[in-house]
Amino acid sequence: MTTLKKQDFIDRAVEVLKENDRGGYTVPTKGLYPFQWNWDSCLTALGQRHFDEARAWIEIETLFQHQWPDGMVPHIVFHVHDDGYFPGPDVWRSGRPTPTSGITQPAVAGFAVRRLYDNATDKQAAARRARALLPKIDAWHRWFYENRDPQKEGLVAIIHPWESGRDNSIDWDAAFERVPTHGVEPYVRRDTQHANPKHRPTKEQYDRYLWLVQHFRSLEWDNSKLHDASPFQVVDPGFNAILIRSCADLAVLAADLGEPALAQANRDRAEKGQAAMEKLWSEEHGQYLCLDRVIGRLIDSASIGGLLAAFSAVPKARAEVISNTIGKLAERAHFLVPSHDPADPRFDAKRYWRGPCWLVVNYMIADGLFAAGQTAMAERITQSSLELIAGSGFAEYYDPLDGEPLGGGRFTWTAAMVLEFVQAA
Ligand code: GLC
Repeated sequence: MTTLKKQDFIDRAVEVLKENDRGGYTVPTKGLYPFQWNWDSCLTALGQRHFDEARAWIEIETLFQHQWPDGMVPHIVFHVHDDGYFPGPDVWRSGRPTPTSGITQPAVAGFAVRRLYDNATDKQAAARRARALLPKIDAWHRWFYENRDPQKEGLVAIIHPWESGRDNSIDWDAAFERVPTHGVEPYVRRDTQHANPKHRPTKEQYDRYLWLVQHFRSLEWDNSKLHDASPFQVVDPGFNAILIRSCADLAVLAADLGEPALAQANRDRAEKGQAAMEKLWSEEHGQYLCLDRVIGRLIDSASIGGLLAAFSAVPKARAEVISNTIGKLAERAHFLVPSHDPADPRFDAKRYWRGPCWLVVNYMIADGLFAAGQTAMAERITQSSLELIAGSGFAEYYDPLDGEPLGGGRFTWTAAMVLEFVQAA
């Protein structure tokens, strides 16, 4: 394992997680992201469990305390006031007692809670805490299929790029053209004060992000209206795979904890979703692709979203092709897994989600490939992730060509993933 010893990785990762701990929740990194982020917290708990199991549960419990009455779990919870971040509560105006954003993020909670439960040393406490979370996670899953899958296809759409978690991906570019830039209230960005503007989204993209926020706000964040009212509706295979996996994992957990009806509902969602995923498969690219639901066409963009699909139980043959596709990416990039194919002229090694590697995505792809029997590639991804850490520290993301650390530093979920990876390495 590269030049660092296993214990060095662990000590440094724990230090980052403790440094960013704010009590009941952990900030992704100081400065750039000073609040609680949804999927960051669920993945962070997986790291925390290695040194403080009780604290890991709290991370997810805190997030679910801010679940909306309709079932949605918001992408940001603004626990404290901080002028260093934009757009803050005064822009979202979502009307929640503790301010939150008005959109959601990848539903990784079902997966995370099952993993916490399965590996718990304090089984009694884990059962109690998991049982309390079950109906909440189930309500979120139901919310997705009710509000983001109006035609009952088995696949949900995101209505804002930030929901995907892959905020600035090339996948959104064409569909984003439909989002107007006029009429956006004047604003001052904060992200470019914390990170290099060349690694961040452009001004035009930011205008569109905000246009959507204003539009949804004008509809009073009524989720029964937002999907159809959005000019941006994209079915992302990575996002759906995470939701499908969480449904499948919640089903197993619910069965274990004596909740058969809840188990059945989630099993049904997972099975329907998994079958529907096949519509997104591209033989030409050897991976899944996003679907632009507004025009009903697949988006020609070979991004990591379609490889992340391996996180759900895709057919074994698909997992093998995905593994081979990643093998081809490895011929063009030194580190795995680039968030976009370097052979695509739109690839950008340093701009976030348009090329760089992210450890959280590596983790989920590797997990799926292990389960599908693609062990060699899963191990290769794990090794590459640890090499990035050894050479470049705990960054937000990394240049896949030279390994340069990019975005925020001392990053929480990167550290959490290292604690998971060192167990597997
Ligand atoms: C960026 C990422 C998003 C993440 C957030 C906090 O916005 O794109 O996925 O949740 O940072 O780390």
